Amino acid sequence: MEKLTSKQLREKWIKFYESKGHKNIGAVSLIGDGTTGVMFNVAGMQPLMPYLLGAKHKDGTRLCNVQGCMRTVDIEEVGDHCHHTFFEMLGNWSLGDYFKKEKTAWTIEFLTKVLGFDINKICSTVFAGNKDVPRDDETAELLIKNGIKKENIYYLDDNWWDLEGTLYTPCGPDNEWFYPVSDIPCQRENCDINCPCGRYVEIGNDVYMQYQKTEEGVAPLKSKNVDTGFGFERLLCMINGVTDNYKTDLFSGVISHMEKRLGVKYLENEDITRSMRIIADHMRTAVMLIGDQNGILPSNVGAGYILRRLLRRAIRHARKIGLEGSDLLEIANIFICKVYDEAYPLLVEKKDYILSSIQAEADKFLKTIETGTKEFEKLASGIDRKLEFLKKSNPEYTITEKDKVISGKAAFRLYETYGFPIEMTVEMAKERGLSVDLEGYEVALKEHQELARQSSTIAKSGLATSGEMETKYHTATHLLNAALKKVVGEKSHQMGSNITAERLRFDFACDHKLTDDEIKRVEDIVNGWIKEGISVTREEMKKEDAVKAGAEHQFIERYPDIVSVYTIGSASKEICTGPHVKNTSELGVFKIKKEEASSSGVRRIKAILQ
Ligand code: ALA
Repeated sequence: MEKLTSKQLREKWIKFYESKGHKNIGAVSLIGDGTTGVMFNVAGMQPLMPYLLGAKHKDGTRLCNVQGCMRTVDIEEVGDHCHHTFFEMLGNWSLGDYFKKEKTAWTIEFLTKVLGFDINKICSTVFAGNKDVPRDDETAELLIKNGIKKENIYYLDDNWWDLEGTLYTPCGPDNEWFYPVSDIPCQRENCDINCPCGRYVEIGNDVYMQYQKTEEGVAPLKSKNVDTGFGFERLLCMINGVTDNYKTDLFSGVISHMEKRLGVKYLENEDITRSMRIIADHMRTAVMLIGDQNGILPSNVGAGYILRRLLRRAIRHARKIGLEGSDLLEIANIFICKVYDEAYPLLVEKKDYILSSIQAEADKFLKTIETGTKEFEKLASGIDRKLEFLKKSNPEYTITEKDKVISGKAAFRLYETYGFPIEMTVEMAKERGLSVDLEGYEVALKEHQELARQSSTIAKSGLATSGEMETKYHTATHLLNAALKKVVGEKSHQMGSNITAERLRFDFACDHKLTDDEIKRVEDIVNGWIKEGISVTREEMKKEDAVKAGAEHQFIERYPDIVSVYTIGSASKEICTGPHVKNTSELGVFKIKKEEASSSGVRRIKAILQ
C-alpha cells in the first residue's frame, strides 16, 4: 500500500468519484442550519436528507464530498487512540441513480486499485434480514463476483443504518467494510471481524437507502439510493500502517509541539498521553466550530455550551500537564495553517478571530479557576483546622481517611456557585492529601437537576394552567425558534420563554435589531409550516440519544435521563416537556407584535396566534 498524506487521501476520494460521474458538492456547515432542527452535522448524509427522500438536487443524482461531522456522545471516550468529537467522512451518493451493482464494484475498485488494499484480506458484512426486509443476498453475490472471498463475507443482524432516534429518515441495509491492521490473528479461536481484539477495523459502509423509518417499521421509498460513508481518520491510519489516529499527519504537528514543550514523548506516560490526545481533539473541534461558515462562540446555551465545555476541558488538561495558553493558541494555529488550510480555507481567513476567541475563553476560564481555587483553599483549611481540633481535644484520637474527606455538598457548591469543575476539586484535594465524596457530589448534583427539571416543567408547561391557547403557543414557540435559526442563523439560541393564553414571549441571542424584512421572513416561515399541516410527534428517549439525534436543548445536564423529544416534521426537533398540539394546522395565523431588546445581546419577540 502506498502511503498517503491526509491531503492526498481527500483528493483521491474526490477524483475517483468524479471519474464515475459524481459532482463534488463540498462540505456544508458543521453546525445545523436550523432546517433539520439539529445542532451539529452528525453524518455526511444529514444535509442530504430531503434529497434521499425524493427532492431534486441541483447538482444531479451522483454526488460526493468530504464532510466534517461532529458526535458529542463520544466526548467521554476521547483520550483513547481513535475516538473524536470532530471527524471527517468521505461520502458519495446515488439519488435514485446507480445501485448495488455499481456501488460494490466501485468500492472494491477504490480500495484495491486506488489505495492498494489486498482483495484477499478485505472482509465485508451484509444485512442478515428481518421480518420487514429480506436478507441481502444480492449484495453478497455481487461481492463474490467482484473478487471478495466467500469466507470473508458475513451476514449480520446489525447491518442496518438509520439516523438513530429520528423518525421518517431514510434508512436501509448496509454493507460494511473491514480490513485487518495485522496479518497475525490474536490468540483467541476464530480471530475474525467479530473478535474483540480489534484486529479488523471497520473503515466504512455503503448504505442501500431504499426505505423510510416509520412508527410501525419501514416503508419503501420511491427511489433506491446509495449513501456511502468512509471514516477519513481510520482510512488514513490504515494506509499509513498506524493504528493510532494521533500518529497521522492530522495530529503529528500538534503532538510534536506538545512533546517539545514538555520534554515528554507521546506514549511515554499514560496520563500525559491521554491529556495530549484530549487537548489535540478538543482544540481541533473548537477551531472547526469557531471557524465554521456558521461559526459559533462559547456560551452557556446550545452548541455554544458544547464548545465551552470542549475548550475548558482542553485548558484544564493543558494546565495539568504543564502547557500554557500560548501553547493552545499554537496548537490551534497548526490546525488552521498547516493541517486544514487547503480543505478549509475559511479557517485561514478567520484565523485571527478564531485565535482571539480562544484566548478570550481561556482568560474567562482562568478567572473562574482563580476564584474557585480561593474557595477551595478555604474549604481545605477548614478541614485542616478540624483535624487540629480533633487531635488537640483528644490526644488518643487517630485520624483516619474519613476525617479527610471534602463533602459532596461542598464540592457541588464549588461547582454550582463558582463553576469550578469537579475534576479540579478532586485533583487539588489529592495534592493536599484529602479526598472528595464523589457519591455525595452525584447525589447533590442529581437533587439539583431534579429541582431544576421540576421548576422548568412547571415554568415551561405552566402545568396548572395549560389550556388550549397555551398549548398552541408552546408549539408556535418551537416553530419560531426554528425559523429564527433560519433567518438570523444558528447562533440565535433560545434564552427564555414565557407563555400566557394571550401571547408568547421569546428571548433569543442576537446581536442586532431584526429588520422589517427579517421579521416578515420569520413570520412567513412559521406560517408556511402551519399551512403545511405538519404532525407534531413525541418520542421518549435517552438523553444521550436525543442529543445524538440533534434535538435542540439548553442545559443538557439539567434534564432527567429520559426526555421527551418533540419533532415537527423536518422543521424542528426539541427536548421539551410539552404540551403541544397534534398538528401545526391547529395554530391559526402567526403574527409578531413586537421585537425589542431584552438585555445585552438578547432580543425579545412577542407574538400572537390569530
Ligand atoms: N450514513 C452512513 C454513516 O454515517 C454512511 O455511516
